[in-house]
Amino acid sequence: MPADLRAAVIGLGSMGANHARVLGDMPGVQLVGVADADPERVRKAVNGRPIPGFPDAPTLLRETAPDVVSVVVPTGLHEQVALQAIEAGAHVLVEKPIAADLAAAARIAAAAEKHERLLSVGHIERFNPAIQELKRRLLEGQGGRVLQVRARRVGPFPHRIRDVGVIHDLGPHDIDIMRFVLEDEIERVFADVRRHIATDNEDLFAGMLRFRGGAMGILDINWLTPTKERTLTVLCERGMFVVDYAVQELRFYENHAAAAIPGEIASVTEGPMTRYPITYREPLRVELESLSDAVLGNGPAPVSARDGMVALAVAEALVRSADEGMPVQVADLPVPA
Ligand SMILES: NC(=O)c1ccc[n+]([C@@H]2O[C@H](COP(=O)([O-])OP(=O)(O)OC[C@H]3O[C@@H](n4cnc5c(N)ncnc54)[C@H](O)[C@@H]3O)[C@@H](O)[C@H]2O)c1
Repeated sequence: MPADLRAAVIGLGSMGANHARVLGDMPGVQLVGVADADPERVRKAVNGRPIPGFPDAPTLLRETAPDVVSVVVPTGLHEQVALQAIEAGAHVLVEKPIAADLAAAARIAAAAEKHERLLSVGHIERFNPAIQELKRRLLEGQGGRVLQVRARRVGPFPHRIRDVGVIHDLGPHDIDIMRFVLEDEIERVFADVRRHIATDNEDLFAGMLRFRGGAMGILDINWLTPTKERTLTVLCERGMFVVDYAVQELRFYENHAAAAIPGEIASVTEGPMTRYPITYREPLRVELESLSDAVLGNGPAPVSARDGMVALAVAEALVRSADEGMPVQVADLPVPA
């Protein structure tokens, strides 16, 4: 029997506690340590289990020498902690967004390359079974040409997040998912933002994206909505797919009048709706299983550093567009191939 993969988690806040729960319960994985600057968070994550807890990343890395580390500290600390883990010889899953800015992200990617370690980015929505089924159907051509993809990610204000605004915190999820399901790149963005709650960053955001293949993307993202909603709508010439991430639902509303000729829309009328059966799986578990398979099989990383950097580059272009009140081209941003 192969030895268990030795995993560790650094940062045990609302997301890191989930990494520790899932890794602590995964066959073939041994959770060898967890770390957080807050001893109470360490105590809660350990939760009576025989898992060593540490006050900081360097001590955990020195004492446990893990094979793989989840970096789940606040975004501004991703670079520091990811570099410490890579330099200690660990493969790394860094939570999204990959880093606070592109230069920091490039330094993490370069260190992973130099030390020949896998670097994956926590774009968890790719691992939602409803998204995976949507992508399969889109690539099979079920809907025909994609005309528009619209993401709505709204909910109440998260007071614990102080270091970034809503675009950097939530936008990378939808930017990444749109690229992932369309297998296409974004060439131009336009955005508008507002700040209503007294913090340093934006909390209300609307963005428009243009994909190279011609599809239009719409991002409707905010922290000001009393109810939480996470949906993705993909409008195609033959009908419309709708994903509800939370309940892992995928529906297709057929365009009854779809033309027989691909690439042409004769008319649009309401056809039948189909709800596809999806087997529920926790996306974080699917993500961490993919990471463990990649580490054991020598790669590639489930979500590449480049994917993380493109999502961040597009988020930064959206912020710039909102600042300047102008569309911004994203094709030439300094993202390595
Ligand atoms: N993939 C997702 O869906 C998802 C969801 C939530 C958060 N995130 C990402 O995860 C990261 C953490 O977010 P969160 O919501 O869990 O934040 P959080 O504030 O709840 O938790 C961060 C934790 O890091 C600890 N910490 C801070 N500095 C540290 C250090 N130097 N060493 C060790 N521990 C340290 C804090 O004490 C805290 O417990 C962010 O990058 C965020 O964007 C991803």
